[in-house]
Amino acid sequence: MPNSIVVGAQWGDEGKGKVVDILSSKADMIVRYQGGNNAGHTLVVKGIKTVVHLIPSGILHPGKICLIGNGVVVDPVVFFEEVDTLRAAGVLADNPEKRIRLSTHANVILPVHRQLDKLREEKASGGKGEIGTTVRGIGPAYEDKIARRGIHLCDLLQPELLREKLGRLMEEKSVIIKTHFGSEPPTVDELFEFCAKYGERLRPFIGDVRVELMNAKRAGKSILFEGAQGALLDIDHGTYPYVTSSNTVSSAAMTGTGMPPRMIDEIYGIAKAYVTRVGTGPFPTEIEKTDPELAKGLRAKGDEYGATTGRPRRIGWLDLVALKYAAEVNGMTQIALTKVDVLTGLKKVKICTSYRLDGRQITDVPPSVQDWERSEPVYEELDGWEEFDSSLVRTKADFPKALSDYVSRVEEFVGVRVTQVGIGPGREETIEIG
Ligand code: IMP
Repeated sequence: MPNSIVVGAQWGDEGKGKVVDILSSKADMIVRYQGGNNAGHTLVVKGIKTVVHLIPSGILHPGKICLIGNGVVVDPVVFFEEVDTLRAAGVLADNPEKRIRLSTHANVILPVHRQLDKLREEKASGGKGEIGTTVRGIGPAYEDKIARRGIHLCDLLQPELLREKLGRLMEEKSVIIKTHFGSEPPTVDELFEFCAKYGERLRPFIGDVRVELMNAKRAGKSILFEGAQGALLDIDHGTYPYVTSSNTVSSAAMTGTGMPPRMIDEIYGIAKAYVTRVGTGPFPTEIEKTDPELAKGLRAKGDEYGATTGRPRRIGWLDLVALKYAAEVNGMTQIALTKVDVLTGLKKVKICTSYRLDGRQITDVPPSVQDWERSEPVYEELDGWEEFDSSLVRTKADFPKALSDYVSRVEEFVGVRVTQVGIGPGREETIEIG
């Protein structure tokens, strides 16, 4: 098994969890490198649904080592909720610390980060929320990281230093929470107590993830880098400011773990056969604008509600202009096209192959987000495919012709092979065609 990165190719929720789950069975180690519990990977194994937000979804495979790299922001409360849930489900045996390692240098999401995220979302747009974040404290935690006053996991184990660092972290925040938001900030003592309590519980899980990965690499073991969110939510390459606060593209796998780029063999981009997004921001192919009934139907059929917040997702046709861009910024070597079954039964399906902006036709995403917002999709219409029995499909040759044509058109336009096609939610309903 090669060393691989899995990234979302759109605005998150592409069905990465299932692909990661399948690849995890072949990897020795699975590591997350960015984001936090804003992610939500839904997995259906033997008909049972499990959602993990922070711990790599590879945890469902017995014996696999799951790591959380320095680039991730960790909410200790959520971490232990997940450990407890996985133990109760019989997934983790009695010594979870043998299978999970958290980087000493991952930044901690504190209760004050969640408070600030919520206050901002409530205040913006009269309570409607400017970005529509997941309100998990992700942005404020990354802000502190970049401002060089974040709390690393290893700081939780050093009480003297911790108190001093918390004092520094709260200096400006107390003023902002009190005067700007008219709310009550936590005291340094309260935060210290929180950190000390969780620090002790976290102690057996904290370690040098980079060294562990490097040793595995030297021993010839295979590593799977599990991305969260999607390329268009990347802080640098996405629809800024309607993005998350981390780099979500494949290169973040290196900075978020300390591993070298040259070790990577494959970069899987996960793209849904249609597009969804939660939160605000540009979305040229959004179906709601032109056909709200169809959007409603696809949302219901695809169960398109946020795995983290339960919000209904916005629905759109496949945007190949954006997908080609995502393939380029990620250096994708293969694409997994997921949830084609949700489009089954439509007479015609549309794919966007260029945008119209100010009377001009463009084939690259516009550099300004305002222009992206104003871009009109130009569609190609392809034949839809009829109902088919997924249990009889083993290879691309078994696909209905219209589905084969759809897949081929994606490959041709983007210039990257489609090697997996998801035809249903179960593990066994992913067809390897590459
Ligand atoms: P944040 O990551 O909570 O700060 O949210 C910023 C934006 O990213 C919002 O539009 C969220 O809806 C979106 N977002 C964050 N994580 C995910 C995800 O895992 N899937 C889809 N959208 C996400």
